Amino acid sequence: MKLLILLAMLTSCAALPQNLLGKMFTFPQQTNTAQVRLTTSRQNLNAVTVCLRSFTDLKRDHSLFSLATPSKINDFLIFKSSGDTLSVSARDVDATFDGLELKQNTWHSICATWNATSGLAQLWVDGKPSSRKFTSTGSINGPIVMVLGQEQDSHGGGFDINQSFVGMTSDVHMWDYVLSPCDIKNYVEDRNFPEGNVLNWKALSFQMSGRVLIEEKQKMC
Ligand SMILES: *[C@@H]1O[C@H](CO)[C@@H](O)[C@H](O)[C@H]1NC(C)=O
Ligand SMILES: *[C@@H]1O[C@H](CO)[C@@H](O)[C@H](O)[C@H]1NC(C)=O
Repeated sequence: MKLLILLAMLTSCAALPQNLLGKMFTFPQQTNTAQVRLTTSRQNLNAVTVCLRSFTDLKRDHSLFSLATPSKINDFLIFKSSGDTLSVSARDVDATFDGLELKQNTWHSICATWNATSGLAQLWVDGKPSSRKFTSTGSINGPIVMVLGQEQDSHGGGFDINQSFVGMTSDVHMWDYVLSPCDIKNYVEDRNFPEGNVLNWKALSFQMSGRVLIEEKQKMC
């Protein structure tokens, strides 16, 4: 009984939204276990924008944001391939964006947008827009599992150590609409922008497992 109460408390604590302003998730090691699961009550999406900031020295493939449902493993995925290429997948269909300026060991602001009606996806790297490319139409229907740090090859699992993220991630927001170019610019420049209505860094519900740390973002003096 005591154990049950403790477990219930732990579960509800983990689900309490936290304000992570000024903080970052540090993934200090290559593993197939370290992950942050982001939770939301929203389970149907007709459009998506995800913005985050990322710092890494990885050259190999790695996942920046992985959203899976039971029917589509890459229902919404932001994935870095080798070279200067990022891909955005929606409903298991990838669009690749090449020739991006993604220096290692630098914070980058990355926003990916997608609209289920047109099927168009677009990437914004440090406020610079990519081509607009077709992925897939049709809306995302949960149960949704969203993971930072690993790429899902099954609903909530199937992690490949060689696609894991090593570095830091911060300022994760997600909206159920396509954010305007002006609001993306405001996000990039850390000015006033509408906080995510699906995921909000200032009220984030998440569960961490494996070696992940919440740390203060380092400020240069
Ligand atoms: C990961 O990559 C290393 C080096 O390329 C390789 O030896 C290893 O088998 C890979 N592991 C998996 C699980 O694919
Ligand atoms: C998706 O794009 C269509 C036009 O193709 C537009 O009418 C609609 O408002 C957009 N939906 C969202 C949720 O942004």
